[in-house]
Amino acid sequence: MSSANAELVARGRDVFPGGSLGTFVLPEDLDMVIARGAGSRVYDADGREFIDFVLGSGPMILGHAPPSVVEAVQSQIQRGNSYYAMNEPAIQLAEKIRSAVPCAEKVKFCGSGSEATFYAMRLARAATGKPKVLKFEGAYHGHHDYVMMSVTPSATRNETYPVAIPDTAGIPSVVRDQVLVAPLNDLAATRELLEKNADELAAVIIEPQCRLIDPQPGFLEGLRRITKQLGIVLIFDEVVTGFRLAWGGAQEFYGVTPDVACYGKIIGGGYPLAAIAGRADILELSNPRTKAKEPRNAYVSGTLNGNPLAATAGLATLIELEKPGTYDRLNSIGTRMREGLRKIAAGKGIAAQVLGAGPMANIYFTPEPIVDYRSLLKHKSQMASALGRELLAHGIFTHLSAKMYMSLAHSDEDIDTALQAIDVILDAK
Ligand SMILES: Cc1ncc(COP(=O)(O)O)c(C=O)c1O
Repeated sequence: MSSANAELVARGRDVFPGGSLGTFVLPEDLDMVIARGAGSRVYDADGREFIDFVLGSGPMILGHAPPSVVEAVQSQIQRGNSYYAMNEPAIQLAEKIRSAVPCAEKVKFCGSGSEATFYAMRLARAATGKPKVLKFEGAYHGHHDYVMMSVTPSATRNETYPVAIPDTAGIPSVVRDQVLVAPLNDLAATRELLEKNADELAAVIIEPQCRLIDPQPGFLEGLRRITKQLGIVLIFDEVVTGFRLAWGGAQEFYGVTPDVACYGKIIGGGYPLAAIAGRADILELSNPRTKAKEPRNAYVSGTLNGNPLAATAGLATLIELEKPGTYDRLNSIGTRMREGLRKIAAGKGIAAQVLGAGPMANIYFTPEPIVDYRSLLKHKSQMASALGRELLAHGIFTHLSAKMYMSLAHSDEDIDTALQAIDVILDAK
């Protein structure tokens, strides 16, 4: 193999563990280095074109290099990259978030979705004076120690709730003891855990549509009611759903307002920017001007927080998303993909569940409805990874072990091309 792509893949493997920027790896024989993105496409270093359903793991909801975002960033970049101090793009972006998000009385920026969930939990502990948090089994909220718990516990480790199982080496056991785990969509079991541990629980964190699994009717509403009764902060992780399921995110989509919500991905327009938004009395605990007189003051800060370049990209993205018809289009493209997948599976007699809402979809090969992590574990993951591999060989870039993201740049033809490839690949199985 002597191509620009092969050479870069080899250099990446040499310098990075596993040749990966994180945990995302492609099959060895199909590995590639992305050279550029445009609209719904990415291109590798040899110029090969792929329809992109990874979309930078979600931020690129307008597609790659959208002209209005490029233009806004080019204009801001002339004025400097970063000031640390307050700046107009940060103010405009925070105002835009507040105008869209039901719970957002105040906003605080940070650098990544993981930082947002980390700070939201710190603020909840500061607000309540209680130490513990409850998360749901199978839920991913980023990479810090408090949430890398029971994200992918193995089927054989059928521990009793609420014991948390660390997903990575290197987490101190004292942290594990501060995290409780509940079964998603089981309100009775969750209520029991919350009532039993109310004196110690600062927060419940939930991704409202966790791993594309729909909340069962009444589940989010029940959580809202119980947490309010027990003085526990309800945190929605809207890193994926924010500005994607609807302009007001999952809060608008499901009609349930949490105390605090975490944002990332879309609001940075592909740059490192995330946010915590929520009740003023909770967010105000991070007010640096009241530090001396507020013993519950919580530290929330970082060198690049509210970076003007990232805020400009995020704002330009939200301005596009706010235009009329945007969410109808995002829903219709997602529906086209989901219905297409269902039709293909049914036509071939393959037992499958197609999950997702808005511009997101995924197919799981299992006959049983997926309502929580344990039912999701029953799917044939090898079949999904084989499909992902074959799709890449067909020029379609997906992350099927997570989800397929669609953008405003995807055309109906892009979806149909992907569906045709899936049809052909599943025929050969
Ligand atoms: C639901 C959810 N929360 C939090 C995060 C963490 O965000 P980041 O990767 O920006 O740290 C992710 C990332 O994929 C996510 O999907």
